[in-house]
Amino acid sequence: MTQPEWWRDAVVYQIYPRSFADLDGNTIGDLAGITSRVPYLAKLGVDAVWLSPFYPSALADGGYDVDDYRDVDPAIGTLAEFDELTAALHAAGIGVIVDIVPNHSSNRHAWFQEALASPKGSPARERYIFRDGVGPDCAPPSDWTGAFGGSAWEPVGDGQYYYHMFAPEQPDWNWDDPDVRAEFIKTLRFWADRGVDGFRIDVAAALAKDFSANPLPSAAELAALPAGPDHPLFDRDELDGIYAEWRAVFNEYDPPRFAVGEVWLEDKRRLARYATGESLGQAFNFDLLRADFRAADFRDIVTTNLDIAGIAGSSSTWVLSNHDVVRHASRYGLPLTTPGAPFVGQGPTWDRDRKWLLTGGTDPAQDVGLGLRRAKAATAFILALPGSTYLYQGEELGLREVADLPASARQDPSFFRNPGFEVGRDGCRVPLPWTACGPSFGFGPAGAHLPQPAWFAAYAVSVEDADRDSTLNWYRAALKLRKELLAAVGPFEWVDSPADTLHFRRGKWQCFTNFADDPVALPAGEVLLASSPVDGAVPGATTVWLG
Ligand code: NOJ
Repeated sequence: MTQPEWWRDAVVYQIYPRSFADLDGNTIGDLAGITSRVPYLAKLGVDAVWLSPFYPSALADGGYDVDDYRDVDPAIGTLAEFDELTAALHAAGIGVIVDIVPNHSSNRHAWFQEALASPKGSPARERYIFRDGVGPDCAPPSDWTGAFGGSAWEPVGDGQYYYHMFAPEQPDWNWDDPDVRAEFIKTLRFWADRGVDGFRIDVAAALAKDFSANPLPSAAELAALPAGPDHPLFDRDELDGIYAEWRAVFNEYDPPRFAVGEVWLEDKRRLARYATGESLGQAFNFDLLRADFRAADFRDIVTTNLDIAGIAGSSSTWVLSNHDVVRHASRYGLPLTTPGAPFVGQGPTWDRDRKWLLTGGTDPAQDVGLGLRRAKAATAFILALPGSTYLYQGEELGLREVADLPASARQDPSFFRNPGFEVGRDGCRVPLPWTACGPSFGFGPAGAHLPQPAWFAAYAVSVEDADRDSTLNWYRAALKLRKELLAAVGPFEWVDSPADTLHFRRGKWQCFTNFADDPVALPAGEVLLASSPVDGAVPGATTVWLG
């Protein structure tokens, strides 16, 4: 990408490589498969792709357990194929963002293996977080649970435990250790030198930790502590130093490399510091992943996040789906939650997902038509906002969650570590349907690593490509029009509108969303785009762009 600020209003398309397209027929998507689909991405009109991890991994957590940060998993491709993909994307004018996973490595990483083979107190163990067991029974150093369930401490057999915020196969790095810092600088340069345009930083608020308290706080005490300088795990001040070093590396390149932090914080004001020009530059705003399709909630989220982006001198991000949550076409097909219902947080699936789980995954109350209708309305709404939009592979086809995967097919650690309680995230990671028939709907010649449902046939790219009114063609039209409209955009302003609707303008470009079920009057102006057919009035669950 040649423009330094390209990322500010970019549409970024997230690819989960193992589920995108499989060229070599090993049932796992690969880099060559993505390269073969660059024309599809170009026609869709995205500005950049973000590749979820493609590094060597035993897949204890879908690739977020990295064995080697500077290589490609042989099941997915080679470094040469990575270069080919980057070249093909760049030739199509599409930027490349890779995922950096700096909070933890995999337990197969050479340095973790070295740590296990080294004695207590050795420099090799210093790179991770090892602690002695406590008391006569050599109990874990605290009663903390990992994000996927179970203890956050794993014994290594010599009286010590290591800490893992996620699965036991994901030991946390010790960011106080200079080797660790230097290693990641090397990794950032490695990919930047290969031509990547930016980085998505996994668990960006958790790298700096303080385990000096003795005893460590209990799980209950930890839960009561707000993230921030006094929390041992999240959002500590020392992160500023880490990201300032990274920023210096990003700025060695022309244009400077871009970074977006995966930052989940309850206190939104703390988000701004990750998004400044001295730090990562942008921070994810995940609020819409936890919001129902309701005007008041959307309005609050927009106002807060535009403010935060302004404070940071950055741009906001807008996200409705990713590889960690139930697809929004399904979330929106469920009955609305009670307004103001408290957020229920537990594990990697959250309150909306919990609602899904309560239904057993195949809830007859899911209204498929309404879900997609609202999904498109919400997409048009966010595409009109100032900032950058992150799309997740398959949402452009209108895919909903595959909720009824058999237990035997599931791969997500959150499913295995929470029996009977969490179904996990596999339902949004099922390989894409490219054709209506043929093995694995055109995903690859030898089947798919997660089973695809029969209903995928109707959502296949080939089917939607040929249908003028498909979700895919609507996304293409929306992205094209957005680009044109952005060329002459004015300041963002809310416009007064009836209850349960939102209306804003950016100069001549207006966006109006009817969140209710019943139609409302169409505001004045020429209709440029509509998420559902508009005929004199704006039907329920519909967004229109007017000019
Ligand atoms: C956030 C990633 O998005 C998720 O998929 C992963 O499980 C955790 N971080 C741990 O790396």
